[in-house]
Amino acid sequence: MATATTTTTTTTTTTTKTMNPPSPDAYVQLETPPVVIQEKQESLQSSPILDRQRALLIHAAQQPYTLVTDHLVPAILKDGEILVKVVAIGLNPVDWKGPAFNFGLPSLPWINGRDLTGLVVRGSDPSGRVRTGDLVLVPSTDYRDIRKAAFQEYAITTASNAARIPSTTCPKAAASLGVAFVAAVLSLGVSLGLDLSAIDALPGPDLINTLKGVDENEIPVDVRGECFSASEDADRIKKGDWLAIWGASTTTGFITLQLAKLAGLHVICVADVARHGAKLLELGADLLVDRQDPERAVQIIQGVTNNKLRYAIDIVGRETATLLQRTLANSERAHLLGYAGLPKEPLENIKYHNIPVKLFHSSPAVGEQMVCWLEGLMQSKLVNLPDIVQAQGGLGGVNAALELLRSGSVGGKRVVVNLD
Ligand SMILES: NC(=O)c1ccc[n+]([C@@H]2O[C@H](COP(=O)([O-])OP(=O)(O)OC[C@H]3O[C@@H](n4cnc5c(N)ncnc54)[C@H](OP(=O)(O)O)[C@@H]3O)[C@@H](O)[C@H]2O)c1
Repeated sequence: MATATTTTTTTTTTTTKTMNPPSPDAYVQLETPPVVIQEKQESLQSSPILDRQRALLIHAAQQPYTLVTDHLVPAILKDGEILVKVVAIGLNPVDWKGPAFNFGLPSLPWINGRDLTGLVVRGSDPSGRVRTGDLVLVPSTDYRDIRKAAFQEYAITTASNAARIPSTTCPKAAASLGVAFVAAVLSLGVSLGLDLSAIDALPGPDLINTLKGVDENEIPVDVRGECFSASEDADRIKKGDWLAIWGASTTTGFITLQLAKLAGLHVICVADVARHGAKLLELGADLLVDRQDPERAVQIIQGVTNNKLRYAIDIVGRETATLLQRTLANSERAHLLGYAGLPKEPLENIKYHNIPVKLFHSSPAVGEQMVCWLEGLMQSKLVNLPDIVQAQGGLGGVNAALELLRSGSVGGKRVVVNLD
């Protein structure tokens, strides 16, 4: 399998349709947690919920977060919402980049934080998949709703955005997984059109098909194009195709690689091979290409794929997306997804993609299918969770933990802040 290398449109028309919820039998049956964990969950659950809580506020760009003790506990406002007592927070680059570069702050003061695990304490449907007392992981992609932010003791989410954590999965490590999982699934399953239901080990959702049943008006206008201009069947990435990932050692890259391998893709990983090669091989990379010499990396990808590469994902930035573009230049029809920028000068043979992250929280049908699959993947241990570094100090330790992340010294690992 692993060759270590080195050196160096079809438009989908949509009408208003309602999706039937899956039958409870379709849900993964999770094992009962060990008694000691049950007791801890019960004690957390039985502690009274006060009106006010501790939260981290950002008052202005380029300022550190400030800890306050009198922020209102967020209220449940809509059907399907639940209140979660936060147990651990996974830090994402956007948590420091947003304040540093003044984006992702809908108003001020604001609360940030995109990944959390916690205990469901209020609002759940007693006959639903997610119930009071469950330990869940929540990718909080709806950052414009301050109630859903992770940097507070209690957060709101919807049941369709919460995955129950199996008792065999470390809840701290699970706090590092959510946003990366959502990003990986949407990039592969929507932007590149991978049919995840064809995975033998554990079929996931065929999101292109799911979207045919989703009311277009549910989806924010700015991501509709990405969601509803799915590729022709012949254009969808499928088992046996090559996929290049630049920035494969990012948490998002690690998860994308694993899902791509489950689906039978051949994956080229561009990363610092000396630092991350062993891990990437362990996760199934078919070809490692070192990132230190980008020119050589482009030549290697072109050579190995006979200049016929059609699918590539860049998880680093515009410069590396532009390098990847060169590896796609000779294909009749190719697809390039950029997480943090796309080339300035597009090529005609390439369809360019941005990740439609808002789809996860704006379509309950899509969100529910994704978290149900995630529960199954965790339960059956088909996905390795990211390695984590645990930061101390609770909410008060977040500023220091973000500095750690920003310094790059924890490369390849997620920083997780414990609140319990
Ligand atoms: N739009 C969205 O919703 C969304 C969702 C998820 C992620 N993202 C974006 O995707 C990017 C990655 O996020 P993440 O959370 O997965 O990152 P992460 O886990 O924090 O990434 C850290 C890794 O990035 C690698 N890296 C840094 N510079 C690199 C370069 N020039 N070439 C290759 N690898 C490099 C580092 O490798 P070394 O050890 O070699 O330095 C390190 O292993 C961020 O820009 C993030 O904002 C966006």
